[in-house]
Amino acid sequence: MDRKHFYEIMNGEGTLDYELYLNTKSLLSCQKQFSDFCNRDELQFQVVHQIEELWMKLIGYTLLDIDDFLQQQNTNRVLTLFRRVHIAQQLMIDQIALLETMSPKEYQEIRLNLGNGSGQESPGFRVLLKMYQPLWNSFKEHYLDKHGLTVEQIYNSGYTHGEAYMVAEALAEFDGLFQKFRYHHMQLIFRTIGIGAKSLKGRPVEILEEGMRQQFFPELWEIRHQMTDLWGTQYGVKRDPLGGHH
Ligand code: HEM
Repeated sequence: MDRKHFYEIMNGEGTLDYELYLNTKSLLSCQKQFSDFCNRDELQFQVVHQIEELWMKLIGYTLLDIDDFLQQQNTNRVLTLFRRVHIAQQLMIDQIALLETMSPKEYQEIRLNLGNGSGQESPGFRVLLKMYQPLWNSFKEHYLDKHGLTVEQIYNSGYTHGEAYMVAEALAEFDGLFQKFRYHHMQLIFRTIGIGAKSLKGRPVEILEEGMRQQFFPELWEIRHQMTDLWGTQYGVKRDPLGGHH
């Protein structure tokens, strides 16, 4: 096939209403020129990163709205918007798999062109890391403190599967999916550059493992093991077998 001909069609004229509204002219020139790619995997490498940035922009923007609705205790809006956030997070996880089709060698070639660039500089990721604390504060103020509720009550002693519980579970899902993204990203690194390698910043990849252990809302995870310990006291350290003593 005549590559040049198809490259031109791919870029589009940029003059039709659809193209103007979506700004395809700019969008499709956010990647290197076809002639400048260092190998056949570089377009994919750029596109996946750019798409992930767009999802993080949407997630961050949606979390700002969620914070407004938390303060209004508009739980229906909060839950609908959290569903949007969770789907976008799942897409981010799924889309990482595309890069598993890139060979280690092709990545090394691309890496030579990255300069000092590192995922740690991602604007989308950095903004999300700044948002979880204010979100927790809004939840705590408007769903717990204002009603004299605690995490223990909404999960255990006063459990009604009420609004505070539903919002807490949406927060936990956000936290869990964030950890899952970090885990899948780590698996991608195992596959592409190996775990022992130094990163572009010269620091070992192990810093990523610390990130994987980060919990945004530790209280929502602690309550689960507290409950297991608490409920466990009913049967002590060792339980009788279900079939009774033999
Ligand atoms: C083959 C592909 C990839 C490789 C080999 C890779 C490698 C790495 C490495 C070694 C780090 C450690 C920090 C550093 O080097 O400065 C890192 C961090 C990071 N990367 Fe990637 N990455 C890849 C793809 C992606 C993609 C697709 C995203 C999409 C958003 C991404 C986002 C990030 C983020 C956000 C961090 C900071 C993580 C944190 O602080 O927990 N990476 N990456």
